[in-house]
Amino acid sequence: MATPLTIAELKDVARRRVPKMFFDYADSGAWTEGTYKANEADFAAIKLRQRVLVDMTNRSLESTMIGEKVSMPVALSPTGLTGMQHADGEILAAQAAEAAGVPFTLSTMSVCSIEDVAAHTTKPFWFQLYVMKDREFVKSLINRARAAGCSALVLTLDLQILGQRHKDIRNGLSTPPKFIPKHIWQVATRPKWAFEMLGTKRRSFGNIVGHAKGVGDLSSLSSWTAEQFDPRLSWDDVAWIKEQWGGKLILKGIMDADDAVKAAETGAEAIIVSNHGGRQLDGAASSISVLPEIVKAVGDRIEVHVDGGIRSGQDVLKALCLGAQGTYIGRPFLYGLGAYGKRGVTMALDIIRNELDVTMALCGKRDIRDVGPELLHHRLPVVATEPARPSQ
Ligand code: GLV
Repeated sequence: MATPLTIAELKDVARRRVPKMFFDYADSGAWTEGTYKANEADFAAIKLRQRVLVDMTNRSLESTMIGEKVSMPVALSPTGLTGMQHADGEILAAQAAEAAGVPFTLSTMSVCSIEDVAAHTTKPFWFQLYVMKDREFVKSLINRARAAGCSALVLTLDLQILGQRHKDIRNGLSTPPKFIPKHIWQVATRPKWAFEMLGTKRRSFGNIVGHAKGVGDLSSLSSWTAEQFDPRLSWDDVAWIKEQWGGKLILKGIMDADDAVKAAETGAEAIIVSNHGGRQLDGAASSISVLPEIVKAVGDRIEVHVDGGIRSGQDVLKALCLGAQGTYIGRPFLYGLGAYGKRGVTMALDIIRNELDVTMALCGKRDIRDVGPELLHHRLPVVATEPARPSQ
């Protein structure tokens, strides 16, 4: 088939190559998926200002995120079960990110372990931490991330309990795949995926199995989360984690200006405005719609990053114009990975880079560090899309 030209096309290929339960795991939001959809729709509602007769030579997308040089301000989000989209998925995605000059964030709930990703890459990556009740295990994860040379810890704040995703329940999602007839069918109809998966030993939660006390095998994210994640996580714990880690800290999951002020007071390097890709609190506002008020509240004190709904380089540009210093893509790289492995992640990054570059130029800018609200129509603060009401 023709080479995919958009993230949506990569998604179509991934749908055909990845067993349904894992494709759906990536492509799902909580309950009605209203927030998942709003994340994308609210980006689309923002319009760009076309400028003409501006010199467009010598363009640059280079910038920094938490003081690290990036070839464009687009990092790979931490995503659970990445190694189930494609065999050895985290290693392949980390290698593609490294070659592209953008940060890769490894999830606690990854299939390939911290050590494994470190052994197969040459530059530091970021590690995302979930906080379990067993603080000794949390400490050991932090120590392992440090030993592996990770250059930032991304602490996720919005998953003390797991949002309900109907697709996962209906699919009976588990890893490694439980062999009930539905799953056998799902895997058998994806022979390339299955063949590659047979060729790797990495088929469980690599950071946890064999490391956490009493966990020999782990069948599901939801059962592990329900038993182990700490629902009492508090701002005091953030201070404790910061101290244990001692390096650069990014706080992920801030959607409220008051929480952003508290986050800025912790001394962390950055916050990520995020509703977990619409996977946690369904009914929450889109992340792009709250970005301007959060930038206004804390943008002079802490770097503000954003994720959720970015499906193109145009979306990246819009987020930067509204004050984000950095952006993250989750599903777009997972679709690339599911479609074509490492080459697919590279494709996703190339698609976004090209769209970002051309859009910036057609808006009359040459340096990504110079973009601001003047590139957008009506100087938006974005408002969440509302259903049309009939006029009286
Ligand atoms: C885990 O982070 C998930 O959203 O499934």
